[in-house]
Amino acid sequence: MDVEAFARRLPKAELHLHIEGTLEPELMLRLARRNKLKLRFPDVEAVRRAYRFQGLQSFLDIYYEGAAVLRTQRDFHDLAWAYFGRAAKDGVRHAELFFDPQTHTQRGVALGEVVEGLEAAMTRARRELGVTSKLILCFLRHLSEEAAQATFSQARPYLDRIAAVGLDSSEKGHPPRKFERVFARARSEGLLAVAHAGEEGPPGYVEEALDLLKVRRVDHGVRCAEKPALVERLAREGVPLTVCPLSNVKLKVFPDLARHNLKALLSRGVRVTLNSDDPAYFGGYVLDNYVAAARALALSPLHLWTLARNSIEASFLSGQEKRALVGDIMKVGAAYEDADPPRRPRRAARSRRS
Ligand code: HPA
Ligand code: ZN
Repeated sequence: MDVEAFARRLPKAELHLHIEGTLEPELMLRLARRNKLKLRFPDVEAVRRAYRFQGLQSFLDIYYEGAAVLRTQRDFHDLAWAYFGRAAKDGVRHAELFFDPQTHTQRGVALGEVVEGLEAAMTRARRELGVTSKLILCFLRHLSEEAAQATFSQARPYLDRIAAVGLDSSEKGHPPRKFERVFARARSEGLLAVAHAGEEGPPGYVEEALDLLKVRRVDHGVRCAEKPALVERLAREGVPLTVCPLSNVKLKVFPDLARHNLKALLSRGVRVTLNSDDPAYFGGYVLDNYVAAARALALSPLHLWTLARNSIEASFLSGQEKRALVGDIMKVGAAYEDADPPRRPRRAARSRRS
């Protein structure tokens, strides 16, 4: 069985996925036409040509520009439905979607349009594709704490449909501590917490996310490797990292995939998961991330199996739901061993000395 077939068959959860980052150029142009908006790109090729990034900020500038075509509930439904179709083909069984309310409310789009549209696609994905999902409301960290507090107040009517809060956008200069109070408020309302940290920001931001924001997972987190005591802590406390290999190369966090540290982190006992981040912008969906990482880093089937299992265990599904999916992962592992039994080392021929 080849890597791609094996990785596809493994039931997976995708835990680091910005739904606005799944906006493919074709859909961007279609929504611009539908909403009678003018884009500076004449065609799909021009959009794709613009996708060369020097780092996180140059990506974010174009990402927010693209998101401006999203206006109505129907647009958000179409966006998420397109993602779920691709995810299901990749063997994703559960997805936890980030969305950025401020990107939309700042343009005058009501939060209800966003949530209702996404929810319609989520309900359809569960029924028609067997893919379950949850929503994570992210605060934009380049905006103020007051803006985050106001966003959370606006989200109050929808809190029963939101599993967690997150923190994204420009990391450098916007440490997690800036959002300590709004995260405490969200947790007191029963929401879980995650945050981007240690993508472009230093290891200290990962520690702040854990200690001040009380996150259950760290998004990216790869710069933890610069502080060995932090890597040990993540492993000891079982804190999952939602790692996005293709994103990290596109945004120059690593010069190439062969130099990514995800395999080293796995070997040090960190609960690494693989995810696509903003797949329309970074050249691949979750299966592409598994396959590219496996090829560049010589990951074994056991590594892939572990990554898939970590993704289920790091999700916000219930214990019962996790056990069912882990059971399915076990079956894929067993089927692989039957089809492709591990080669036993041949017993050393007894030396016959005369
Ligand atoms: N980092 C920070 N903010 C983001 C990202 C990311 O990778 N993707 C979308 N918003
Ligand atoms: Zn991200």
